[in-house]
Amino acid sequence: MNFSSIGKDINKAKSILERNGLVAIPTETVYGLAANALNPKAVEKIFLAKNRPNFNPLIIHLSNFETIEKYVQNIPENAKKLAEAFSPGPITFLFMKKSTVPNIVTAGKDTVAVRIPNHPLTLELLSQLNFPLAAPSANPFGYISPTSAQHVENQLSGKVDYILDGGNCSVGLESTIIDFTSEEPIILRLGGLSVEAIESVVGKLEVQINIEKNPSVPGQLKSHYAPKKTLIIGEIEDLIVKYSGKSIGILSFDRFYPEIIEENQVILSKSGDLEEAAQNLFTGLRFLDEKEIDLILTEKFPEEGLGRAINDRISRAAVEQKK
Ligand code: TXA
Ligand code: MG
Repeated sequence: MNFSSIGKDINKAKSILERNGLVAIPTETVYGLAANALNPKAVEKIFLAKNRPNFNPLIIHLSNFETIEKYVQNIPENAKKLAEAFSPGPITFLFMKKSTVPNIVTAGKDTVAVRIPNHPLTLELLSQLNFPLAAPSANPFGYISPTSAQHVENQLSGKVDYILDGGNCSVGLESTIIDFTSEEPIILRLGGLSVEAIESVVGKLEVQINIEKNPSVPGQLKSHYAPKKTLIIGEIEDLIVKYSGKSIGILSFDRFYPEIIEENQVILSKSGDLEEAAQNLFTGLRFLDEKEIDLILTEKFPEEGLGRAINDRISRAAVEQKK
């Protein structure tokens, strides 16, 4: 197929997936690029379409937590508690896998990442399928994740058979990943469910997100989630002065900068709400990335709630530019 089509037709999505095609699916976090997780040929198409290295494992998506027993070995009590509290939702669980999960999905690892996405269209689709969906974020490898059907179309048109349009993603950041394969659970990726929310259910957890030498989650690589433009983080007021010779775009948390033209500014949340800022983050970055500007200036967000995950994403995107 040379062009993708966008629509809300669950039956069409279902029949493409049953024929081992690729469908972009809406979730509350970001759009996923989905295929039948139990069919290695279908899964291989995901890696090709995204230009994703084959050592980078995929998350499998299911319609309910009960069915994951077919695919994973023992589920610790803490995982059950978190699932009870937050699933469906922006949380991914890492467990030891069963042999029912093809090796290509997990990049040969003996662990598998699973999640129940909280989006009505995708939950309905998953409940009608008799296999789980393997799905990474529906962006070319290394670029910003898509939070609308249009974002997917802009970058993967021609590489995906259908885009199921579920509107704008309500959370806007990828899921929080928690590793349950060792004694104590470990947060491997900050994401759409805050550390505070998780700790309110299971107590203090270790957060291990910056292992660069041998990352067990490639999303931990520093160069990730990057726009094409140079992104600089700091005090925006000072950066405006420092880069006064350049054409500047601004991605700000909650305020407007009168020195810079309005069209080149994105305010993520006028009321200073971190959830709203997260929801708008990737759309704002993409918008500025398409502008005729030299630089994007942004700032450090409050290190609390979803601010931590926002800081994680912008700092990886900024570091990429310094190479
Ligand atoms: O919100 C999300 O999680 C979205 C939506 C589509 O569900 N998906 C997503 O997938 O962000 P992806 O592939 O872009 O990021 C998944 C991350 C990757 O960094 C991958 O390395 C890690 O999860 N991962 C998957 N399986 C793993 C495994 N078995 N062991 C360690 N890391 C794993
Ligand atoms: Mg991704």
